[in-house]
Amino acid sequence: MPAILSYTKNFYLMEDNEIAEIYKDKIIFYNNNLEEVKKQPKLIDLDASSIEKNGYDDFMLKEINEQTLSVRETIGFKLDNPKVYIENLDFNKEYLSSLNKIYIVACGTAMHAGLATSNTFEKLCKIPTLVDIASEFRYKNPLIDDKTLCIFISQSGETADTIAALKLAKSKGSKTLAISNVIGSSITREADVFIYTHAGPEIAVASTKAYTSQLVLLNILAIHFAEILESSSLNLLNSLKQDILLLPEKIEETLKQSENVKEISKQLYKEKDIFFLGRGIDYSVALEASLKLKEISYIHSEAYASGELKHGPIALIEDGIKVISILTDEDLVAKSVSNIQEVITRGAKTIVVTNQDIDKKIFDYVIKIPKTNKLLSPILSVIPLQLLAYYISKQKGLDVDKPRNLAKSVTVE
Ligand code: AGP
Repeated sequence: MPAILSYTKNFYLMEDNEIAEIYKDKIIFYNNNLEEVKKQPKLIDLDASSIEKNGYDDFMLKEINEQTLSVRETIGFKLDNPKVYIENLDFNKEYLSSLNKIYIVACGTAMHAGLATSNTFEKLCKIPTLVDIASEFRYKNPLIDDKTLCIFISQSGETADTIAALKLAKSKGSKTLAISNVIGSSITREADVFIYTHAGPEIAVASTKAYTSQLVLLNILAIHFAEILESSSLNLLNSLKQDILLLPEKIEETLKQSENVKEISKQLYKEKDIFFLGRGIDYSVALEASLKLKEISYIHSEAYASGELKHGPIALIEDGIKVISILTDEDLVAKSVSNIQEVITRGAKTIVVTNQDIDKKIFDYVIKIPKTNKLLSPILSVIPLQLLAYYISKQKGLDVDKPRNLAKSVTVE
């Protein structure tokens, strides 16, 4: 849609295997059996300026900086009245209490959004929550049934593996809920229910603002379910809501680290390998930061759960290697610092993204971000790491928005 948005806002949405015969003044649609199908155009209310660079060098930088707005838009009024945003299905107490598990399924960055929030569903709703890669889920005959709620996340709503996984879940009797950023996308038309993220069009191949909006939305959904289930204290849920409302201004604050991150990027852009470490929710951010770096800088990187270091990866640590750690969970910070000390002893140079009051002298670079509830911390901690990938790519003179071999929507297997 963004490609022709400056010509029209009226779109005919076609289903799989439909055919269109296009004339100068009319269009005729047919189904698979060549029977004529009547369709009404859908008004897609997007502003054409939202797909301009608006003075930025690249879409990715624009989209990183838009996160204050995209998160604000995604929050909208959903905390007051979430039902308005979840079409068609009444998630009542009887249905939610009957669930044996929640399955979150997606690809790439969208899957990382699932990893960063699965614990939130477990903690607030007391429902076991699994996360899987769509291309794995669809071929492994997953243990799901009508007591499983399957949540599918896709920025584009067109990812072939995610749509196939959704169809499989439906065929096994599970309820399917799609989260997408694109109005009318295929996944929203396939799912029993859907919710939009309202991040605005994301043009750069590397996903940034869609990811943080997915995190916000999944947290709001978990709170909504917990309210229905009465599975968490009102105090806890209300304080989480307050923290969600404060996110846009904290994102604004985090974005002020941009110059600091740009300077750090100058020390990293010639590296061949970079390691990311984190524990718990910080590990999910390490995975996302590593993906972002690979995608647009072509630097090989690996993300490990800090506690796994000793089980293999520490063999790769040698003099001068760069290790980036995320430290936002106060309960785990001491353990993570001790892991970082292990790599320092072996000569690593360390960069730390943290909201904790730690001894800065131990590390080579520290990127400080604002404090928030630890369930929400990825929404802030990922931002300097998106910027780091961006500036490293720029230092290397690469095409940030259109990295080699990658497409924005992966519509084939
Ligand atoms: C993100 O930076 C990547 N380009 C990629 O991992 C992406 O998130 C993945 O292909 C899923 O896309 P979707 O959200 O449109 O389904």
